[in-house]
Amino acid sequence: MKFKSPKPRKSGKQLLVVFSFIIVLIFIFFFLFQYEFFETEYTEISEEKTDPLTADYDTYFLDDTRENKKIKYGYELFVNTAQYLGPQNGKREKAYSGNNLSCNNCHLKAGTKPYSGMLIGVINRFPQYRGRENKIGTIEERINGCMERSMNGNPLPPNGDEMSAFVAYMKWLSRFSPENGKVKGAGYARIKIPEREVDLEKGEMLFIKKCAACHGENGQGIPLRDYAGYLYPPLWGDDSYNIGAGMARVITAAEFLKTNMPYGVSYDKPELTDDEAYDIAGYINQKDRPDKANRELDFPDLKKKPVSAPYPPYADSFPVSQHQLGPFQPIMEFYKNEYGIIKTK
Ligand code: HEC
Ligand code: HEC
Repeated sequence: MKFKSPKPRKSGKQLLVVFSFIIVLIFIFFFLFQYEFFETEYTEISEEKTDPLTADYDTYFLDDTRENKKIKYGYELFVNTAQYLGPQNGKREKAYSGNNLSCNNCHLKAGTKPYSGMLIGVINRFPQYRGRENKIGTIEERINGCMERSMNGNPLPPNGDEMSAFVAYMKWLSRFSPENGKVKGAGYARIKIPEREVDLEKGEMLFIKKCAACHGENGQGIPLRDYAGYLYPPLWGDDSYNIGAGMARVITAAEFLKTNMPYGVSYDKPELTDDEAYDIAGYINQKDRPDKANRELDFPDLKKKPVSAPYPPYADSFPVSQHQLGPFQPIMEFYKNEYGIIKTK
């Protein structure tokens, strides 16, 4: 006769408790050590996923290491340029700008707004071939290009504190960008250039309607009350960009306006049509503004000069007025047929 010893049987309930306890332990263990288990994979994924366009570019939260101080100074110079570098800054030896504009007036949101000459990734886009000098140019030379033209001033010393602060800020803006610097939103958005001359009357009408509320009917803007600089910057006259600036070219100005003005519009929500942007750009750039010193030295290879550069000489025989007001297609055709050069501006 078989004899069954009375085994102490665990009840179903007890088993469940033990089992759950083990599961909880596994979870705790997993949470504590997950970073070690997945460390390599984890960081790789996060680097890949930082989109340069949505990354954080607020200098405010940077702590005060030496490099961060430089970045913050670069940001300050960029946004409040006239206070530091303008003709009314109170320090003649630092008055490199000839006007009271700030870099931020054209490169919106401290250089982070897409299609406003956005500077995210810009460090990686240099050194770069430049037609204006017909040579490979550095980022320092490019910054000084805007100093001498958009700011109507003098070049910054390439090794000085101000230049190195600008470069540090731009490096920091480029920290998530691909090596070739190609970021969506760099430069300006292309428009369809109307195949006609600028209509100056329409340009004036549109200016009064859509721009004068901020920039003034006389185009002189509104200065800040307590500091050098502008609440609404001037669009022409002595305190504006000079004729050698990119903004002095109708095509470039129209591209800027299309996605940036009236203030508040963007690439996905423009207000002006391409035709309107073209006519207003032509109207603004017919007004008087400072001349560019030594402009005869620009474009040693004249064939590289943009078709809408408003001052002679040119490597073609189209009249100056057509370079200022279009139509630009016949000039572009000429360069394509004669020299095999495709021009977009
Ligand atoms: C009046 C408008 C204006 C002002 C003010 C201005 N810029 Fe520019 N900047 C431009 C234009 C136009 C371009 C050319 C954009 C293009 O053609 O894509 C440009 C291009 C640049 C570029 C090259 C961008 C690239 O992606 O290659 C840098 C860098 C730059 N500016 C820096 C500055 C700095 C620094 C300041 C202030 C000291 C400044 N700019 C002030 C209009 C301006
Ligand atoms: C609501 C106010 C407002 C309106 C309307 C407006 N702007 Fe502006 N504009 C600004 C401000 C502000 C800036 C400088 C941006 C900054 O510093 O953030 C600016 C900058 C500019 C610049 C580059 C800086 C300069 O002084 O050269 C141009 C060019 C310009 N505006 C043209 C126009 C034109 C043309 C119109 C009409 C289609 C227009 N704006 C409508 C507020 C306005």
